[in-house]
Amino acid sequence: MSRNPQSNIDLARILEDLQAAAAADFEHARPIPPAVNHSPAFLDLERQAVFEREWICVGRDDELAAPGDYLTFEIAGAPLFVVRHDDGSPRAFVNACAHRRACLLSAAKGSVKRITCPYHAWTYDTAGELLRAPYMEMKDGFDRSDHRLRGLPVATWEGFVYVSLSEQPRKDLAASLEPLRAGVVGRYGMACYRTVMQETFRWDANWKNLIENFIESYHVPIAHRKTFAQHDKPLADYVCGEDSPHYCYHRAPQPAERGRGAAHPDNDRLVGEWRRMMIDFCVFPNHLVTLMPDYLWYISVQPDGSDAMRATWGVAVPPEVLADVPDEQRAAWVAEFRQYMNTANEEDKALVEALHRGSASPLLPPGTYHPIERNLWQFNRYLADACGKKAGA
Ligand code: FES
Ligand SMILES: [Fe+2]
Repeated sequence: MSRNPQSNIDLARILEDLQAAAAADFEHARPIPPAVNHSPAFLDLERQAVFEREWICVGRDDELAAPGDYLTFEIAGAPLFVVRHDDGSPRAFVNACAHRRACLLSAAKGSVKRITCPYHAWTYDTAGELLRAPYMEMKDGFDRSDHRLRGLPVATWEGFVYVSLSEQPRKDLAASLEPLRAGVVGRYGMACYRTVMQETFRWDANWKNLIENFIESYHVPIAHRKTFAQHDKPLADYVCGEDSPHYCYHRAPQPAERGRGAAHPDNDRLVGEWRRMMIDFCVFPNHLVTLMPDYLWYISVQPDGSDAMRATWGVAVPPEVLADVPDEQRAAWVAEFRQYMNTANEEDKALVEALHRGSASPLLPPGTYHPIERNLWQFNRYLADACGKKAGA
């Protein structure tokens, strides 16, 4: 458990500070109250008010290509899996057997015809129905139809799969993101991007420190000299998107019409300046995407205590870009991409961990935001809204 001076502040005081930070105009706003990223009590609230109520991105739809393909995931420690059903829809379930709740699927991903529990071999179909329960005929009145997997709401949006731990999620996913889709990211056709890699990492910082870092590009020219800074975008070109309670984004055009970060000549989805536009967006609470005309990079970040995070991240590439890579060169091409993104992650890791370490002091300067850090204030307002309602409920 965290023992630094910011970790023991009273929860009511933390919420008061968060509400005050969110109520300020952006021009006068201060960075997020530090205890929000250090307090175990706030983490407990966040688990209930955010991670158990929201839509959480668990991966990409194309990772479940065929019926029976599955991936496992945890939302704030709660294990679940998503599997492609025979009718083509993704189905999500709590990853626990209907007998004595043993974990059913342990691999990160795979393919199954049926789901058989490793404990006593109860077997389910991909709709969660119990097909077989060995020797249970010895129990009077046992009816298989009374026992099925616990289903979870699942939704897809622009090629991403989201699951909620709540039977009544906090919002309608597609409706809440419609302005972002229709006005900004829909033109890229993210659903057609093919996932080429997916990995996980664990860093020593609060999950929100990674959100903070990802949703501002002020640090890019300083921090990413080996990677993104080579795109050489002037800070003055960055534009922050509208204030929304459901997402935030900023964007800037790449300087070049060709090369990494620009649309492939065969890309007929994007026109004009959009052919070289980078968009960084966050679907609140925790789904981060850097969207380029020629690739996307996404992260789904989770708390692992108040002082650590776990993130699943991946890269997906549009078909016209992949078509240029001969099959025999695909593995080396993906390895090079992985190396590039890992270098960018390493550049960020030191900064994200520094954000967490630096904000642990009881005496801190008040702080402020650069104009292109508006997304951070937007996120703080989301968090205050999500956690404030819970606290007052
Ligand atoms: S716990 Fe799964 S069959 Fe017994
Ligand atoms: Fe970064």
